[in-house]
Amino acid sequence: MKILVLSGSPRKNGNSNTLVDSFIKGAKESGHLITRFDCAFKNVHPCIACDKCKPSTKCVFEDDFETMKQEIIESDLVVFASPIYYYSISSQLKMTIDRFYSIDEKLHKNKKAMVFLTYADDAIETADLVLGNFRGMFEFLGWTNTDNIIAPSLWSLGDVNHTDYVKKAYELGKNL
Ligand SMILES: Cc1cc2nc3c(=O)[nH]c(=O)nc-3n(C[C@H](O)[C@H](O)[C@H](O)COP(=O)(O)O)c2cc1C
Repeated sequence: MKILVLSGSPRKNGNSNTLVDSFIKGAKESGHLITRFDCAFKNVHPCIACDKCKPSTKCVFEDDFETMKQEIIESDLVVFASPIYYYSISSQLKMTIDRFYSIDEKLHKNKKAMVFLTYADDAIETADLVLGNFRGMFEFLGWTNTDNIIAPSLWSLGDVNHTDYVKKAYELGKNL
């Protein structure tokens, strides 16, 4: 499979990036082709709704999204990984998702999708709010949400290393 991982945390060795590392390790061992896009470390301008991309699919901003967009179109599986910030995903990941708009027509096809969320509180309702947004997007695009990793009770760097989620992420990648 061609897999695109969109990672939203600005903490390079943070909890969600640790899950991403582990997932990618397993997926690579099983021979999948991975593209990783760390949204917080890329130059991605927010969508300004100018509609200049219609119908050309070319955005007015020639930034890192433009050089990566073909990977989204061609991917079989897209993984979204983010810390929860104020009951939502990180703004860095959201900015990247909003840029899907320029290639929206090409994204309505059969793809798989996964969501990895890390957050500090221990309420499953917190993750449900965020998953609800993803469910809406996946339904709109016709993508199938195959698996998720919801990792509560994680605050500090490295907290995830004391949980089973790291192994779960590895196995998810390995057993695709
Ligand atoms: C700006 C900001 C907002 C946050 N908002 C929430 C929140 O609404 N709910 C929550 O449980 N944790 C919240 N957190 C905690 C993070 O989700 C938590 O530390 C997470 O493990 C960070 O993941 P990372 O290491 O991958 O960046 C917030 C942290 C920051 C910096």
